[in-house]
Amino acid sequence: MIMNRYWSQQIAALDPYIPGEQPQDQQYIKLNTNENPFPPSPAVADVLRDFEIERLRRYPDPESTDLIKSLAAYQGLESSQVFVGNGSDEVLAHAFQAFFRQDYPILFPDISYSFYPVYCKLFQIEYHQPALDQEFCINIQDYASANGGIIIPNPNAPTGIALVTGAIRELLADNPESVVIIDEAYVDYGAESAVTLIPEFPNLLVVQTFSKSRGLAGLRLGYALGQENLVEALQRVKNSFNSYPVDSLTSALALASIADEDYFQQCRSQVIASRERLRTELQQLGFEVFPSSSNFVFVRHANTAAETLYNELKSAGILVRYFKQARIDNCLRISVGSDPECDALIGALKDILR
Ligand SMILES: Cc1ncc(COP(=O)(O)O)c(C=O)c1O
Repeated sequence: MIMNRYWSQQIAALDPYIPGEQPQDQQYIKLNTNENPFPPSPAVADVLRDFEIERLRRYPDPESTDLIKSLAAYQGLESSQVFVGNGSDEVLAHAFQAFFRQDYPILFPDISYSFYPVYCKLFQIEYHQPALDQEFCINIQDYASANGGIIIPNPNAPTGIALVTGAIRELLADNPESVVIIDEAYVDYGAESAVTLIPEFPNLLVVQTFSKSRGLAGLRLGYALGQENLVEALQRVKNSFNSYPVDSLTSALALASIADEDYFQQCRSQVIASRERLRTELQQLGFEVFPSSSNFVFVRHANTAAETLYNELKSAGILVRYFKQARIDNCLRISVGSDPECDALIGALKDILR
């Protein structure tokens, strides 16, 4: 264990999250962090250009009133059912702290977003990880034991496989005493959102982000949707931590993004079309491609090790995500890039596999 005489024991024992590489030194084709291949809406660029610098002199609205109103209208909810934060990672951290420090362990799949165990360690939350099946699918029956909460990404990451709303409904109905968080970072690429279940289930919290389908990962904006008492709990944590997680510039740019629905739909459809083309081309190269409802594909090659492919692609200037983790250490997660980026990937793989 790393130890420094000034560190608390708890901090020394943490296993911080390691984000996908963001190299600053070389121009890579980046297919490793599920960013959007398209820039934010031109309407966002207009607001950025015209933003009154004078506004930065003052603190932002701590309640993010206009942004919350706009998100609520977009989602068909009340403002009291929306919470915003500095990226969905921060929103998730607040939710872990608000809901998951319970007597029983929380549950999330053995293969899922690798930040969840990190938060558990930070907030000293026990957890169990029911195993995905052989096809990397979630079995809802595995979540029927006594638990202190449940979190599931839908679609799951890094597999890209989605649950249907009926399965989420079952999960919520089976666990009325627990908060169930559905992390919908990738929902806009083909999964059904659980937002429609919010009026029915007081234990449901849905978390979404501007980082993927809205092409604003650099802005850091995420949000949670749920019944009022869950949102109030998140506000209590936020107001005990940082009153101003969303700055004035972020609010203004996000409002412009929400208003440009045509551009949002256009980019989303384009990524879905590119994903399907990429799937076919990868299959032709001998890859098994798991069914994806997200902006990435999870793949395994019939006779070449994933680590070898990862290293060779990196040497060829293409970054993909490799997880040295039991059960998936022969898989790669590849973000859907622009069509020229996907072509470059396929070209490089053809050379490597020749
Ligand atoms: C499943 C999942 N949830 C949440 C996030 C965090 O997104 P952000 O903090 O950029 O909103 C990610 C990012 O990769 C993710 O994969």
